[in-house]
Amino acid sequence: VVERSSQQGLADVLVASNRGPVSYSVGDDGSLSAKRGGGGLVSGLSAIAADGAGGDGDRDGGGAVWVCAALGKGDREAVRRSGGKLDPADTGGQSVRMLDIPEETFADAYNGIANSVLWFVHHMLYQTPLEPSFDAEFERQWASYERYNAAFADALAEEAAEGATVLVQDYHLTLVPGLLRERRPDLRVGHFSHTPWAPPDYYRMLPDAVARQVLRGILGADRAAFLTRRWARGFADCCAAVLGASVAEDERTGEAVVTCEGRTTRLGVHGLGADGEFLRERAGREDVEERIAILRGEIGSDADDRPRRAIVRVDRTELSKNIVRGLHAYARLLADRPEWRGRVVHLALAYPSRQDLAVYRDYMSEVSRVADEINSTYGTEGWTPVVLFLKDDFARSLAAYRLADVALVNPIRDGMNLVAKEVPVVSDDGCALVLSREAGAHEELGPYAFVVNPYDIGDTARALHEALSMDHGPRAEHTARLASAATATPPTRWFLDQLAALREG
Ligand code: G6P
Repeated sequence: VVERSSQQGLADVLVASNRGPVSYSVGDDGSLSAKRGGGGLVSGLSAIAADGAGGDGDRDGGGAVWVCAALGKGDREAVRRSGGKLDPADTGGQSVRMLDIPEETFADAYNGIANSVLWFVHHMLYQTPLEPSFDAEFERQWASYERYNAAFADALAEEAAEGATVLVQDYHLTLVPGLLRERRPDLRVGHFSHTPWAPPDYYRMLPDAVARQVLRGILGADRAAFLTRRWARGFADCCAAVLGASVAEDERTGEAVVTCEGRTTRLGVHGLGADGEFLRERAGREDVEERIAILRGEIGSDADDRPRRAIVRVDRTELSKNIVRGLHAYARLLADRPEWRGRVVHLALAYPSRQDLAVYRDYMSEVSRVADEINSTYGTEGWTPVVLFLKDDFARSLAAYRLADVALVNPIRDGMNLVAKEVPVVSDDGCALVLSREAGAHEELGPYAFVVNPYDIGDTARALHEALSMDHGPRAEHTARLASAATATPPTRWFLDQLAALREG
């Protein structure tokens, strides 16, 4: 019997996700540079060391390890040079094990299954007369997805101390909980979905065997958690419809409990909030001030020399974010309410995402095309109605947040949407929020927002008009309420709550 303990350098807390907390690029001279990412998991894991929740803390990084995939050339090179355990100097001290999964297997699993199938199902993005059609290519990709999930399960099984707690993230890794339980029944395993969960009628588009395998994979966890009650319910409904599972409510915690094939899995709900402290500090720095000056220049002043209003959106250029319909709604506002012409500017920050997929590249072109069309229809010499930024720049996002009079967050479907939560936190002068009822954030922010049906251009245009017309007093009051709801569960608390719930059982 092999004794596994944290004294042997094994971890008491493990996180697994496709995208890790750091990414590498190779310079012209062959040197590697590391770029650290942000987000809830990064804050959560770093809090473990401080909180002592990670166990005895013997291990570098405080008893926790993060297992992630190498995503590109730079990452693969970093894995080659480090043997997979990344240099803590690149990760802010965090122990990170990066997996170099064979390139084709990775591409099939990430681009093919995760981003073109599971993402599409949960965000209900298919244009169903034509897609999906699950053919031989899909079957090959699915086999890769299985291997990619198995590589994660193997690495986690190797890294975990006896009885450790493992938090598996998202739709890339749905099979990991089940596979890990086979390898290490001693572990406490949680799965967290950052996406919505499709209702059964849509979910059942997947081939039956795959639909079952995904659900059984997640049900391998002791606890499966979601961002909202609505997504947890979607998952429970799919378990009942596809697997014949029974769903009950735990009287003590109020959580749903799914019983299936002799195992029970609790369903948790943990809404991720904005990191108010970090955002306020970061938004006050010099680089943000510089960008504010630039954006003020882009916004300009109206004929009476008053600063124009700014409608701001910040997104990955992501199909589910509904950027094109957002632009059409803005055009409709200018058409129906000529009083706004020359008095408003739409700042659309649409950063590149998943550019390996043709449908994302096409969507990005469509965003530019529609923005140009609006500018040529309505623009005048001194007024550009839409200002589009296509290059990722966090400082510019924060500058846009600070200046926004109206934030437009109109996704078709979204797990949470943190932009809706971040804008009110850093807003300089109060900001009205136009929010899709299909965003997870709607559960918490709905009462203080102008809520829209994201498919309805007329409805969205009217909401933009009302938001722009809101008086300063009520706007400031709404912003304060939004900010307080948005920061109710900051990332550290979100993470530690999950850990505690998983350990309690
Ligand atoms: C969503 C997913 C994350 C993912 C992110 C960026 O928020 O839930 O898992 O990391 O999108 O997408 P990408 O494909 O660039 O990692």
